[in-house]
Amino acid sequence: MCGGQVEEFLDLGPQPISQAFRTPEDTTQEFFYHLRTGMCTTCTLVQLVEEVPRHMMFREDYPFASSGSRYMTDYFAEVAGELVASTIPDPFIVEIGSNDGVMLRCLEQAGIRHLGFEPSTGVAKVAQDEGVRVLTEFFEETSARVVAATEGQADVIYAANTICHIPYLDSVFRGLDALLAPHGVFMFEDPYLGDVIDKTAFDQIYDEHFYLFSARSVSEIARRFGFELVDVRHRPVHGGEVRYTLARTGTREPSDAVHALIAEEQKTTLATLTGFADKTAAIRDALVAELSELRRQGKTVVGYGATAKSATLLNYCRIGPDLVPYICDSTVTKQGLVTPGTRIPIRPPAAFTDPYPDYALLLAWNHAEEIRVKELDFRRQGGRWLTYVPDVHTV
Ligand code: SAH
Ligand code: TMP
Repeated sequence: MCGGQVEEFLDLGPQPISQAFRTPEDTTQEFFYHLRTGMCTTCTLVQLVEEVPRHMMFREDYPFASSGSRYMTDYFAEVAGELVASTIPDPFIVEIGSNDGVMLRCLEQAGIRHLGFEPSTGVAKVAQDEGVRVLTEFFEETSARVVAATEGQADVIYAANTICHIPYLDSVFRGLDALLAPHGVFMFEDPYLGDVIDKTAFDQIYDEHFYLFSARSVSEIARRFGFELVDVRHRPVHGGEVRYTLARTGTREPSDAVHALIAEEQKTTLATLTGFADKTAAIRDALVAELSELRRQGKTVVGYGATAKSATLLNYCRIGPDLVPYICDSTVTKQGLVTPGTRIPIRPPAAFTDPYPDYALLLAWNHAEEIRVKELDFRRQGGRWLTYVPDVHTV
């Protein structure tokens, strides 16, 4: 974004499209790219070295549906309330990456003028069918200009788990400049670099997660495009995120939280990230050793949650059906398919209880709280969770 030099610090090897689940019969050649991560020595932005074309990820059959998590559905209802409370009466609120309408449907129900940008037409249609207004376009300069011209400027532009998916942030910022009202704010939340490092959560890195933001890198990017980082707020979702609030330069005073977080981030250097890469390799070795030992002991192991992030874990560790015979997942459209690259079958949640395995590898660790409550009987009858965040251990 700044034209600086990107120093590579982590190589997670050849990886498939993280959400390209396939039928078991499909033996055609899979697409692989090389998953490497680097940090810009000038603006500190952590980013992938290689970019996967966006149409290969965000397709008609994009399988991730935000409303699949009860916890996240409740969370986004809260967010909708916060957005409305943060702005003027009778606002126009735009969301980038509105998915199945998990947040916008709350605005629609409250009669608030809204519009989503959502290029994955399958999930977009789910929202549209509920009466949510969604444009099935990628948010970028051209689409933002069209909306600004036809609908007027937005008072709030919001995005969750989407801005980090967009390599072309220059176009996004020019779009924001066109679409955001002079007094408006742009709020977005994404997995936070600090949490990823603290938890050695290397599986947060995959094709869709092109950037890992920090307050420092976001404030640098914003500055280049006439915006300013005016607030940061840590969010306890998806393993730790930060919500960044941006406004046009000079329109709002940056909060103390911004100064404090940027100061704290000074400790994160390239050496920190090299240490993170070493810990990543150690976790891989420990997890493969643990799974191999469980297999030797004749224990049954099942994966829980065919998450996008599990593609990184499984392919980097080369974990296939020999170590994890199947993965249970509540997403109907993933059931019956196999995982990208590693070809582990995905089964419905009913397969988890019948009978319970000895161990469950918690691939959806970002939903741990929700899943542990849902699966109390698994623990009660002696089952154990195997997790690898922040290190390999059983619970
Ligand atoms: N906001 C939801 C969905 C996150 S998944 C949530 O937090 O649960 C990311 C979404 O961003 C996907 O639905 C994807 O199709 C969409 N997306 C990717 N690139 C985009 C772009 N340039 N503009 C708008 N949406 C985009
Ligand atoms: P995500 O980490 O990309 O949000 O994906 C979460 C996956 O986990 C998604 O495929 C649904 C699955 N899941 C379950 O199978 N059971 C659950 O209780 C929850 C919360 C998620």
